[in-house]
Amino acid sequence: MSSHVLVLSGPNLAALGTREPEVYGSTTLAQLHDQVTAEADAVGLTVDCRQTDDEAELVGWLHEAARAGWDVVLNPAAFTHYSYALGDACAHLVGCGSRLVEVHLSNPAARESFRQHSVVARSATGTVAGFGPGSYLLALRALAR
Ligand code: DQA
Repeated sequence: MSSHVLVLSGPNLAALGTREPEVYGSTTLAQLHDQVTAEADAVGLTVDCRQTDDEAELVGWLHEAARAGWDVVLNPAAFTHYSYALGDACAHLVGCGSRLVEVHLSNPAARESFRQHSVVARSATGTVAGFGPGSYLLALRALAR
């Protein structure tokens, strides 16, 4: 078990706080990262929180975690539903022995049909969805247990 966790967020999540607040809430990404850092501290983990709109950058970060042996909390955002490159990077990460928790602020299973399939889920150690920023915090708690 890794005590260092990479917390990754995908496209459009830098706009949290103003992006469809009725769906994603009013917490900004900076506030979310502060909550994640405090939760990690409380459960004895260290975290590195990163966000990108770029698929290649996200794939690169997953490879970095695979090489380093870090666990990953990943909100792939819209890439969840169609990025086979990201899905393959997740499979590689888990194949290297890291754990992967897929997280979503909303509950994609209860939304539009295109959101109801995840190309990441087949590799995920577990998934937490629908609890807003709490999804990230619960994922950290699960990894720390
Ligand atoms: C999301 C759900 C995705 O369907 C969407 O594309 C996002 C955010 C979530 O956290 O609820 O950007 O991953």
